[in-house]
Amino acid sequence: MAKRSPESRGNLGHGERDVLTDADRVRLTRSISEQVYPAGKRGRLSILPSGSLGGKDSAHDVYFAEDQVGAGGVVAIKRFRRLESAEHELAAMAEIGERGLKTFQAVGKGIYDGGNLGYALVTERMPGLTTMNQIGWRDARPGEPDYEDYATTLRSMATYAGELHAAGVAHGDFQIKNIGAASTVTGSEFVTFDVEGVTFSDSAEDFAFDGKRIEDLTKMTRTLVSAGFLANATPVVFEEELTANVLEPYWDANPSGMVIEQWPAVMAVAELERPRPGTTAGAAGYLALSQV
Ligand SMILES: Nc1ncnc2c1ncn2[C@@H]1O[C@H](COP(=O)(O)OP(=O)(O)O)[C@@H](O)[C@H]1O
Ligand SMILES: [Mg+2]
Repeated sequence: MAKRSPESRGNLGHGERDVLTDADRVRLTRSISEQVYPAGKRGRLSILPSGSLGGKDSAHDVYFAEDQVGAGGVVAIKRFRRLESAEHELAAMAEIGERGLKTFQAVGKGIYDGGNLGYALVTERMPGLTTMNQIGWRDARPGEPDYEDYATTLRSMATYAGELHAAGVAHGDFQIKNIGAASTVTGSEFVTFDVEGVTFSDSAEDFAFDGKRIEDLTKMTRTLVSAGFLANATPVVFEEELTANVLEPYWDANPSGMVIEQWPAVMAVAELERPRPGTTAGAAGYLALSQV
């Protein structure tokens, strides 16, 4: 059998999903179990049947397992091929916590060696976590979108982005699927995770960091538009809605000149995702319809 480099156990092409087979998961879980509970018996952690998230929400094929012997806690298992990447994410989570932001809690030492399967980052599953791409807008109020629901959610998400940035954290992969809320949609506490690509900075004049913040804002805006948060709007309503519900709350939480300067560029990217007339979801769509 060919020897693999210890730095990277297996390689993936760009954009490829990192899928474990069922057998891989069983082996990896057993190995973690032996390391987390060294004195316990084998196989103490068991994979939850509906534990895997699927490709849409997890490029790393995160899955959940339950401690069958102890307190019955559930853990989330995220496999990395490179130790360095797992270590970077673990260190970033610690620093995010120190900066007063909510994030996942590592189980024990956090990273467990999975042999030729790579390295597992193990966290306590946060119960009731909802990610912003999972909100069932259309199901919640069929035929009756509530403008305030959309707008409140958008504003609280944008406020959270501003708070994150003001705390010196640029996320690095700020798609709405990586924005979590700990309980309900509105008025809940946001959770920062999937932070392998995070950047920290406490300098007021850090242009590279400003660039990272703009990247976050662009990615958040683009993904929330493509998920139907704002739709069926004329360009003017669309722009007004984005400004009122994203830029302004963001700006209130993180007054950065750079963001104002770059906002037209963020808007141009969002405009590419703007659903064309005929679709009726989203805050701007509701506003556009209610004004007719
Ligand atoms: N500790 C946890 N508690 C609850 N859900 C989790 C936890 N860890 C991961 N998840 C779920 O798994 C998904 C994927 O995890 P994430 O860190 O974003 O990795 P990926 O790189 O695969 O996107 C998250 O969007 C979240 O829904
Ligand atoms: Mg993710």
